[in-house]
Amino acid sequence: MAAQSVLSVEGLHAGYGKTQIVDDVSFELSAGSVLGVLGRNGVGKTTTLKAMMGHLPHTGSVRLDGVDLSRLKAHERAAAGLAYVPQGRRIFASLSVEDNMRIAVPRARRSAWQSELEQMYDQFPILAEKRRQAGGQLSGGQQQILALGRALVARPKVILLDEPSEGIQPSIVEQIGQAVGTLCADRKIAFVLVEQNLGFATSVCDTVVLVDKGSIVMQTQPRIIAEDRELQLQYLGV
Ligand SMILES: Nc1ncnc2c1ncn2[C@@H]1O[C@H](COP(=O)(O)OP(=O)(O)OP(=O)(O)O)[C@@H](O)[C@H]1O
Ligand SMILES: [Mg+2]
Repeated sequence: MAAQSVLSVEGLHAGYGKTQIVDDVSFELSAGSVLGVLGRNGVGKTTTLKAMMGHLPHTGSVRLDGVDLSRLKAHERAAAGLAYVPQGRRIFASLSVEDNMRIAVPRARRSAWQSELEQMYDQFPILAEKRRQAGGQLSGGQQQILALGRALVARPKVILLDEPSEGIQPSIVEQIGQAVGTLCADRKIAFVLVEQNLGFATSVCDTVVLVDKGSIVMQTQPRIIAEDRELQLQYLGV
């Protein structure tokens, strides 16, 4: 029901120049839940997240806790409580782990920075241990945890997470999955999780949407897709 949704996307269209990619995407997300976005390479998953975050022009609406973000810039959407962990992580290699997080805190939330940081270090001790090391010295999995930590210190209501399992060793994928579960349960943070790793998505998501050619073709429970080879072949290519 719309009244309970923390995030509501309606009729989203976006693309690059004259090339339309995202075609009429709509979904609702409730607090403390995980929506998986699954689909083959190049179907528009990342473009959908970029548009929601305000990194690309779009039409249609993105509402967070009832507030329309559609006309806001990316940093204003971040200040409103939307966070984005980009595909490939994009951490700053030459900045320390702690500085990578420090620069991500919106001005409006800076007074709460220390307590956010401590809470985050409690959750991810590896980041506390490496706080003074350069981001570039971390392993791929540790960088992914840093990217998630960087999103968390801004105290988001919703995190857009783009293929966190890509190129990461299984033990850290599992750690990320557990962290997502804890953040949902304890802090009622909601996630939009783009994934190609079906096993991971199945274990973490409450609901999934299948995307093809920029549109949602199906919304269902993860186990329905996990059990259906034909759907997997048609929409995931696995
Ligand atoms: N900056 C860009 N300029 C022009 N076209 C782009 C740009 N970025 C992506 N595209 C195109 O938009 C389409 C969707 O790309 P997008 O990155 O959203 O796919 P994706 O579903 O995230 O794929 P993947 O699973 O490989 O990450 C692709 O055809 C891609 O080539
Ligand atoms: Mg992508």
